[in-house]
Amino acid sequence: MTLNPKLTKLFNEQINNEMASSYIYLAMSAWFEQTPYSGFAQWMFTQSREETMHALKFYQYLVDRDAKVELQPIAKPKADFKNVLDVFEHSLKQEQKVTQQINDLFEVAEQVKDHASKNLLLWFLNEQMEEEKSVRDMIDRLKLAGNDPASLLVLDREAGARKTTGGGASDKAGE
Ligand code: FEO
Repeated sequence: MTLNPKLTKLFNEQINNEMASSYIYLAMSAWFEQTPYSGFAQWMFTQSREETMHALKFYQYLVDRDAKVELQPIAKPKADFKNVLDVFEHSLKQEQKVTQQINDLFEVAEQVKDHASKNLLLWFLNEQMEEEKSVRDMIDRLKLAGNDPASLLVLDREAGARKTTGGGASDKAGE
């Protein structure tokens, strides 16, 4: 079945959205590299790689559906943040934005009765739920820690040990 033109356009946009996310997280990782928080830097670096894998998963889907891939420029990411909490709050906003984008894509897939696309997008919606949860949990704990350096360093160490949510670097795109 040929991929619907509107879906093709939206999937192409989503490749770009995921690459933009990857860049945003890489910029966050770079920001943390300028602080004592190497664990948070590692968290953001891992997240950046996951987002690249998401982009590749959409890319591979277009290829597999014999649809045209059209790559677009990636926007410059924000590079400055106020503090650790500020970074994670931006991360949550970014994930909520992506969840909305994928929800919108799912609705179009439903309208055009493309069940294979719906299946792919359901995987992404579950992934988004996990990502939002892990960021929200970290925000809650960062709020508890406040400005206490010892508590922040404990969270930093835990962040550095974080496993991926499953759609990440260890996950070959689409599998
Ligand atoms: Fe691939 Fe976290 O959005």
